[in-house]
Amino acid sequence: MEHRDINFRSRKWVRPEDLNANGTLFGGSLLRWIDEEATIYAILQLGNGRVVTKYMSEINFVSSAKQGDLIEMGLQAVSFGTTSLTMRAEVRNMISRSSILSIEQIVFVSLGPDGRPMAHGYSEATYARDRIPEPGTLG
Ligand SMILES: CC(C)(COP(=O)(O)OP(=O)(O)OC[C@H]1O[C@@H](n2cnc3c(N)ncnc32)[C@H](O)[C@@H]1OP(=O)(O)O)[C@@H](O)C(=O)NCCC(=O)NCCS
Repeated sequence: MEHRDINFRSRKWVRPEDLNANGTLFGGSLLRWIDEEATIYAILQLGNGRVVTKYMSEINFVSSAKQGDLIEMGLQAVSFGTTSLTMRAEVRNMISRSSILSIEQIVFVSLGPDGRPMAHGYSEATYARDRIPEPGTLG
């Protein structure tokens, strides 16, 4: 399925250390990459360096990738809550564009300095990089 609103930002080159016992891309590597990509997206969309992954829905490993494949990861904001941001993820082969993985819901929560959920004040995605967190608020 082609998704018009999803932005494919990061690319990866599948290396030997990312393979599973079947010689194809290891799901754990893929999830680590997606979680990192989604974290960066959440930080920028919510303007807060202190965000955590709260929830991931079913993960569908649609097809495999092999060593040397070029893959790209896409994210799309689905909804903004009071303290949360829900996004959708899609990974596909850069050349064939065939889907490798899809996750319908990844929920991030914005936290305050006390580590508790904090209202982020946003209701829609920005495409400009205008929510860079204040210096010192990352991490
Ligand atoms: C994130 C955390 C602080 C939230 O605490 P909590 O007591 O569940 O907070 P709340 O009930 O106020 O929920 C906060 C937000 O998450 C959403 N949420 C909570 N549970 C959810 C679930 N199972 N699925 C989807 N969203 C959920 C709530 O709807 C709320 O969103 P909203 O404010 O936009 O409406 C806490 O669960 C936590 O620390 N979890 C561990 C996070 C973590 O370590 N992640 C791993 C690596 S980063």
